[in-house]
Amino acid sequence: MKEKINTFLSEIDAFEAQNKESLEAFRIKFLGSKNITKDLFNDFKNVPNEQKKEVGQLINEIKEKAQEKFDFFQSKLNDTIVEAETKSDLTRTAFPERLGSRHPISLVRKEIIEIFSRIGFTVSEGPEIEDDWHNFSALNFPPEHPARDMQDTFFVDSEQGEIALRTHTSSVQVRVMENAKPPIRTLSPGRVYRNEAISARAHCFFHQIEGLYIDENVSFADLKQTLMYFAKEMFGEKTQIRLRPSYFPFTEPSAEMDVSCSVCEGKGCNVCKYTGFLEIMGCGMVDPNVLENCGIDSKKYSGFAFGMGIERIAMLKFKINDLRLYSEGDVRFLSQFKSVL
Ligand code: PHE
Repeated sequence: MKEKINTFLSEIDAFEAQNKESLEAFRIKFLGSKNITKDLFNDFKNVPNEQKKEVGQLINEIKEKAQEKFDFFQSKLNDTIVEAETKSDLTRTAFPERLGSRHPISLVRKEIIEIFSRIGFTVSEGPEIEDDWHNFSALNFPPEHPARDMQDTFFVDSEQGEIALRTHTSSVQVRVMENAKPPIRTLSPGRVYRNEAISARAHCFFHQIEGLYIDENVSFADLKQTLMYFAKEMFGEKTQIRLRPSYFPFTEPSAEMDVSCSVCEGKGCNVCKYTGFLEIMGCGMVDPNVLENCGIDSKKYSGFAFGMGIERIAMLKFKINDLRLYSEGDVRFLSQFKSVL
C-alpha cells in the first residue's frame, strides 16, 4: 500500500504539463470524481490499525500535491495562450496595408490656413449653393455683368430668385460681414463652380481661399505687407511679389499679384513663360458699396480682400501640369503626396 502511494507521489512530483490535454488527463487521474485516492481509501480497511494514521496522511498528501501541481500548470498554460495571442507575428510581411495619403489640395489648403492663422486670421465656411445676393448683388456686380451670364454660372433654379452654385467664396465673406462686427480677419476656403470647358488649365469646379480684413484705417500698404509675408512663407524667403492694377466689382482699387517664379528664381523659364513671374491671386481694397451692402459703416471702416485658387498654388508647389489630375482619383498620382501618418 505504502509503496503504491509513494509511486503516485513521485509521479506527481515528476509531472510536467506539456499541453491542455496532458493536464486534463492528470486532473482526471488525481482530482477527478473517480480519482485514484478513492481506490486507495477503499483498500484502507485492510491497512493494519497502527499504520492507518500514517497511510491516511500520505493519501491526503497525494490530493494536496496533485492540486498544487494542477493549479501551477493551469495558470502557466493560460499565460502562454494569452502571450501567443498578443505577440506580434514575425512571419507577417512588413506593412501589408497600403496607407492613404493626403490630397494635394488638402495639403496646400492646410498650409495656407496655417500661414494666415499665425497673423490672426480665422476660418469661415458657407454654403456651396448660393443666392444671387451673396454671390453677386452684395458684391457690387451690376445686373448686366458678364460673370452672371449662363456661360460662367451654374444656375440651380432661376425661378426661385436665381439660386446658383457659388462662383467664388467671396459669398462667405458677405455672410461674415453681415453677421460680425469689425475688426474682421477671416479666411474662407471652399469649393467653387464655373461653367467652363474642362482642360489641362480649366475645370468646372475648383477650390479657393479668400481672405478679408476689415478694421479702422486699413490701407493698401497693409494689404501689400500681408501678401508679401504670405508669399515668403509659402514659396521661400527669396520670393518677390508684384502687384499689377486690375478690376473686380467688389474691390477698388484692385490688383493682381504675381510671385517670382520659384522654378527659375525669376530668371525666366517655360513655367513662367520667360517672364520670371507667376500670377497667383486677385486682391484689392473692399469697395465702400460692399461694406454698406453688408451693414458696415464705410466712413469708419475700410478693409482689404484677396482670393486665390488652391489648385494653382498646388500646381506651382508640386509642379503639377494638368488640373484634371486633381479629380481623377488616380492612385499613381495621389500616392506621391504626404501619407496620412
Ligand atoms: N473673388 C475673386 C475671384 O473669384 C477673387 C478676389 C477676391 C479678388 C478678393 C479680389 C478680392 O476671382
